[in-house]
Amino acid sequence: TGPRGLPLIGVVRDVRKDVLGWLTRTAAEHGPVAQYRFGPGRAYLVTHPDGLKHVLQDHVKNYTKDHYSYAMVRRIVGDGLLTSQGETWLKQRRLAQPAFHRARISAMAGQMVRATLELSEQWATSKRTGEPRHAVRDMMALTLRIVGEALLGTDVRAETEAVSAAFNVISEQTVERFRSLRLLPPVLPTAYDRAFRRANHALREVVARVIAKRRERQEDLGDLLSMFMLARDEETGEQMDDAHLQSEVLTMLLAGHETTATALSWAWALLHQNPDAEKKLHEELDAVLGGRPPTAEDVPRLVYTRRVLDETLRLYPPVYILSRKVMEDDTVCGYQILAGSSLDISPYVTQRLPEFWPEPERFDPDRFTPEKIAARPRYAYFPFLGGPRQCIGNNFALMEGTLILATLAQHHRPRMVAGYTPTPEPLITLRPSRELPV
Ligand code: HEM
Repeated sequence: TGPRGLPLIGVVRDVRKDVLGWLTRTAAEHGPVAQYRFGPGRAYLVTHPDGLKHVLQDHVKNYTKDHYSYAMVRRIVGDGLLTSQGETWLKQRRLAQPAFHRARISAMAGQMVRATLELSEQWATSKRTGEPRHAVRDMMALTLRIVGEALLGTDVRAETEAVSAAFNVISEQTVERFRSLRLLPPVLPTAYDRAFRRANHALREVVARVIAKRRERQEDLGDLLSMFMLARDEETGEQMDDAHLQSEVLTMLLAGHETTATALSWAWALLHQNPDAEKKLHEELDAVLGGRPPTAEDVPRLVYTRRVLDETLRLYPPVYILSRKVMEDDTVCGYQILAGSSLDISPYVTQRLPEFWPEPERFDPDRFTPEKIAARPRYAYFPFLGGPRQCIGNNFALMEGTLILATLAQHHRPRMVAGYTPTPEPLITLRPSRELPV
């Protein structure tokens, strides 16, 4: 059949009204590959795991990030690991990879738990005074601090508030642009755009300060920032210049905090709504930790805690939609895909397909037993994507998430305030509404 949607505007109005509902309905009505018009362009939504394997893994070169959605990301972080492509990307990925090896990540566990215990103290104070907390805000501040300290050194810590404030403005502006579908920068700056530029400038200044301090000290701290700064190009011997370094640092700060924070926020909401799962979580924490803070060695034994996180990432994948540009004509799941189109994929939709996830709306961490995982196709679940452009921080995020959940849940059972029901807000990531008051 021909593409869905009206000529020129396509399905834009439906998407603006309710993107998650539209995606879900489209997949249910059209099966593995749906074709539609988005504005004047042609787009496909690929939801079947076989099609996703084709696009993300087997024919990945045909599906690039030359897509307008990345223009916005580039405006924020410049050309870093998330936005670059080809040789530049490969070089940077190889450079960054060692910072994410298991042993290095494990060494960061102590710092992750220490930062979480400080938040736990703040929660205890709020509980005494009866002051509600906003879980999203707390999780954002915590994960920003963790990623900053772990990968970029303690200098970032002093600047966390400034970074947080700037990211908030940028997030609001970006969402506003997404909602109004002004995806490219305006020719004449609007008030929104000026606020965006100010925040972006502030962010770059913070990062420039962090880099300058490190250069002054000329120390190798063994973290990602030092690795980036000291690396030399094999052929030319050149080192990364400050502009490039800034982009890589900003990429890590952005990609490494908002996603994990969103996932953790949903975990608190889902635990409140599912007392059986919450009980099992506490039984595990009592048995494994018995009241002491967790360490890296405990992580493999916190099996149910990890499953809570996995199931949360199934129901509310922080990155709920991604797009690629189709370079050459291709066939996906038997459907013709035309060059120049946009190809969209959505973990939110695929991870709720009843074919692979019976009773998809039900929160059930035991979907992630090893047997059940092995029985599903690889791309029935892909909150971190897959293939060469898979999230570099996935093991970092999973360890961090497990440690944060275990540390806080030992001392607290956050309850959502009376009358509040969380609804997913499809912003840059899929956040719970009103920052989840607890
Ligand atoms: C890429 C998800 C945590 C750093 C990605 C992508 C997804 C993703 C879906 C692919 C994006 C794209 O193709 O445009 C998540 C989720 C997280 C998480 C759900 C937490 C629950 C982290 C953390 C870090 C990080 C903690 C860093 C410490 C990155 C980077 C990329 C990336 C640098 C680009 C990798 C590349 O293209 O080579 N992430 N992420 N992420 N993520 Fe994550």
